[in-house]
Amino acid sequence: MKRILPSLALLAATQLAFAEGGKMQAPPNALWQEECGSCHTAFPPRLLTEDNWKQLMSGLDKHFGDNAELNVKDRQAIKDYLTRHAGTGARHSAASLRITETPWFTREHRSISPKEWVNPQVKSRANCTACHQSVAQGRWSEHDISVPGRGRWSGDDDDD
Ligand code: HEC
Ligand code: HEC
Repeated sequence: MKRILPSLALLAATQLAFAEGGKMQAPPNALWQEECGSCHTAFPPRLLTEDNWKQLMSGLDKHFGDNAELNVKDRQAIKDYLTRHAGTGARHSAASLRITETPWFTREHRSISPKEWVNPQVKSRANCTACHQSVAQGRWSEHDISVPGRGRWSGDDDDD
C-alpha cells in the first residue's frame, strides 16, 4: 500500500492538470473575442472570479496603463458574459485583477524559471501565446505548449 500511494497521487495530479486545459473553453462570444482579444489574448473567463471581472469591467478607462473603455451596451454585454463563466474561489482571485497573480496561475506555472519569464520572446506573463501557441484554435492543453528556449512541453508524464 505504502508503495502505490505516491504513484496514485501522481496519477490523480496528472489527470487534474490534464483536465485543466480542456476546461478553459468558454462558449464562443464574438463581441468579447473582438474587444478583449485585440490587444492581448482573450483570457478565459474562468481564470478570474465574478468579483474580479466586475471590478475590472468598471475601470476600463484605466486598464493596466491603457484605455480600453467601451460603450455602455458592449461593456454590459461583455461583463455579463465574463461573470456568467467566471471561476470561483480564492485560487482564481487577485487584488491586482491580474490572472498572472492568482494562486492558481502561480501554482500551474511553477515549473517556469525566473529566467524563462524574462526571455525577450516572452516579455510578459500575460503574453500567454508565447508558450500556448494553439490558443487561437481554442487549445490550452499541456500538449499544445512550447516554452521559448526550452522547446516543446512534454508535460509531467513524458508521454509524447
Ligand atoms: C513562459 C511560458 C508560458 C506563459 C507565458 C504562459 N504559460 Fe500557461 N503554461 C505553461 C506551461 C509550461 C504549462 C504546463 C505546466 C505544467 O504542467 O507543469 C502551462 C499550463 C497552463 C494551463 C494548464 C494546461 C493544462 O492542460 O494543464 C493553463 C490553462 C495555462 N497555462 C494558461 C495560461 C494563461 C491564461 C497564460 C497567460 C495569462 C499563460 N498560461 C501563460 C507555460 C506558459
Ligand atoms: C487597448 C488595449 C487593451 C484592450 C482593448 C484590452 N486590454 Fe486587457 N490589458 C491591456 C494591457 C496593456 C494589459 C497589461 C499586459 C501586461 O502586463 O503584459 C492588459 C491586461 C489585462 C489583464 C491582466 C493580465 C494579467 O497580467 O494577468 C486582464 C485580466 C485583462 N487585460 C482583461 C481584459 C478584458 C476583459 C478586456 C475587454 C473588456 C481587455 N482586457 C481589453 C490592454 C488592453
